[in-house]
Amino acid sequence: MLRNFERKMKLNILLKSFTKVKLTHLFSMRTNEGVNKTIARSITTYYDTKDISLEKEIRTNMLVEEDFLSEHEEMSLFNEVDPYMRRLRYEYDHWDNAIHGFRETERKTWIDENQKILDRVKDIAFPPEVPKLAYVHILDLEKKGYIKPHIDAVRFCGNTIAGLSLLSSSVMRLVHDKDKNRYADILLKRRSLYIMKDAIRYEYSHEILPESESKFKGQIIPKDRRISIILRNEPNVEDTE
Ligand code: OGA
Ligand code: MN
Repeated sequence: MLRNFERKMKLNILLKSFTKVKLTHLFSMRTNEGVNKTIARSITTYYDTKDISLEKEIRTNMLVEEDFLSEHEEMSLFNEVDPYMRRLRYEYDHWDNAIHGFRETERKTWIDENQKILDRVKDIAFPPEVPKLAYVHILDLEKKGYIKPHIDAVRFCGNTIAGLSLLSSSVMRLVHDKDKNRYADILLKRRSLYIMKDAIRYEYSHEILPESESKFKGQIIPKDRRISIILRNEPNVEDTE
C-alpha cells in the first residue's frame, strides 16, 4: 500500500523538495469553512464511535460527502481507469502485507471531464496554495480485498488525504495508534468523497474492513470490487529530509 506508489513518487518528491516550499498552514480557513458546512449537513450519518474525543476529532478532521459523484461521473472515472487496471493482476500477500487483493497505479493526466471532477475534490480538500501530488493514486480492491491498519508514510504524503469510492461501499476503521480502545467506523458509500487530515491522518491508523467484517452500526455493508481514487498533498519538507 502506497509503498510502490511511494517508490515511484520518490524522485518526483526529491525534485520538488529543491523548491523548499514551506508547508506550515496546510488547511486554510476557507477550506475548513467548506468542510464544516458540509459536515453539518450529514453529521451523524457516516461515523460510529463510542469515543467522545475521537468523535470530536472526526468532526474537525474528517469529512465524508455522500453522493459527491453522480452516477455519470462515477462511470466516467471508471471508464478511464478500468482498461488500464484490467491489464494488471490482483496482488496478494504484498511484501508489507498491508493490502490484500489489490492492483494499483498512478495517473497524472486525465480526460477533461474527469480532471474537472478531480479539481472539485482539490478545491474542497486543499487550500489553493498547498502543493498537491501531481500523481493521483488509483487503488482497485477486489471483492475479497481489504486494507490492513496503517498510517500513510509522512515522507511521501502531507497532512491531507482525499479519496473517492467507486463501484462499492465499504467500511473504514480508524484506530488510535497508541490506544487500540479508541476506534471509529466510517461508512464510505459508493460515490462518496472522504477527506482525512491532521490528527485523523497522523494519529489514527485507517483500514478497509474485509467482507466478513463489513458492518456499520450493526448493518451489513455488502462489498464488491471497489476502486478508490486518492489525492494527497506533498509531504512537509522536514519529513522528506
Ligand atoms: C491507501 C489507503 C484507502 C482507500 O492506499 O493508503 O489507505 O480508500 N487507501 O482505498
Ligand atoms: Mn492509507
